[in-house]
Amino acid sequence: MNRPIDPHHMTQAATAAGTTEGYMPGWANDFETEALPGALPQGMNSPQKCNYGLYGEQLSGTAFTATRPERTWCYRIRPSVKHSHRYEKIDLPYWKSAPHVVDDVISLGQYRWDPVAHSGEGLTWLTGMRTMTTAGDVNTQVGMASHVYLVTESMVDEYFFSADSELLVVPQEGRLRFATELGIIDIEPKEIAIIPRGLVYRVEVLEGPCRGFVCENYGQKFELPGRGPIGANCMANPRDFKSPVAAFEDREAPSTVTVKWCGQFHTTKIGHSPLDVVAWHGNYAPVKYDLRNYCPVGAILFDHPDPSIFTVLTAPSDVPGTANIDFVLFRERWMVMEDTFRPPWYHKNIMSELMGNIYGQYDAKPQGFVPGGMSLHNMMLPHGPDKEAFEKASNANLGPDKLDHTMSFMFETRFPQHLTEFAAREAPLQDDYIDCWTSLEKKFDGTPGKK
Ligand SMILES: [Fe+2]
Repeated sequence: MNRPIDPHHMTQAATAAGTTEGYMPGWANDFETEALPGALPQGMNSPQKCNYGLYGEQLSGTAFTATRPERTWCYRIRPSVKHSHRYEKIDLPYWKSAPHVVDDVISLGQYRWDPVAHSGEGLTWLTGMRTMTTAGDVNTQVGMASHVYLVTESMVDEYFFSADSELLVVPQEGRLRFATELGIIDIEPKEIAIIPRGLVYRVEVLEGPCRGFVCENYGQKFELPGRGPIGANCMANPRDFKSPVAAFEDREAPSTVTVKWCGQFHTTKIGHSPLDVVAWHGNYAPVKYDLRNYCPVGAILFDHPDPSIFTVLTAPSDVPGTANIDFVLFRERWMVMEDTFRPPWYHKNIMSELMGNIYGQYDAKPQGFVPGGMSLHNMMLPHGPDKEAFEKASNANLGPDKLDHTMSFMFETRFPQHLTEFAAREAPLQDDYIDCWTSLEKKFDGTPGKK
């Protein structure tokens, strides 16, 4: 079954065996899909003439010489050179890129925000992006930015791609459609999507208003983490990731393509839709994933593992084992550890931790960290349970206990995160967050055997 046709009447590939509702399963598979029969050349990439008068074109997501190249061959109505003309710089003042250090903003601290409210102003994917933090350097392709998006309006005859980054999208409210060159991805809360660097797309509101979080990855692509002794199963299973089948539109209309390039935004005018890929094959493609498929693994006798046990995806840096970004999920799970302080322990971390709440209540912070809200525990700054969580966990009767109705995530990076002016001055920063540890008292008693 195909999904409902979108307002722009994209022609979508018939759902083939092994696909579900317009998606093909598997992480970084080498897919092939065609929206018209015979559009995809067989046995070769560059025939002298492509069927239907299509142009063949390669989209390279890695260097040609990468050990395992990621690239996709597209067969399209017009080649991409026709979707790009002279560029003009434009300003999207709320979308910032690293390095971006604001002189009179102090990023050194533990911060927490209430959900950023919708303003009533009509905002698209581009005008509604609000950068909260930046880390690293977009020009040298290291680091990341975290954003909140507030989207109420669809892009119409307007398209976008980021040459700077791949985007990991984490919806918290509302439903969005990403109509991309390689097909259609619909997402809603409890799902995520990854839009690769360089891929052209348009974002439509299926059900608004829409709010969520974006991790903009300047560095190496996200990949599934190495599993080590966990073995081949559990965590995020490759088959649960889904890439779209081919879909295209043959639309002649004055259109704008906006490009993010080295932290700056540019537009170019064209006379047609660039979403004109009729068939494609390759392993460089957008993907979605339902977080409810994430199978958490944890301690089943005593103690509390590092949160890395909940890594969904990791974007490596040039230091082995030290991620540019880890995307970590804290979802419903059973707590069964004996004689154990079960919430996250107090700690300081060389990595910088930005968290967001998708829904429910997070175990280390029963109050204040609410759905749609965010927190930042920056490089080497201490954090941990508040007084209420500490007392409850220290005195709980430790039977099996289910953490239910909870889903939070973390963008953790090896680089310190710098607050934007928006995060420091316009977003609803909780001035009293630092006070959540104030009431923790000294309990020390030097009497032998005292607990
Ligand atoms: Fe932490």
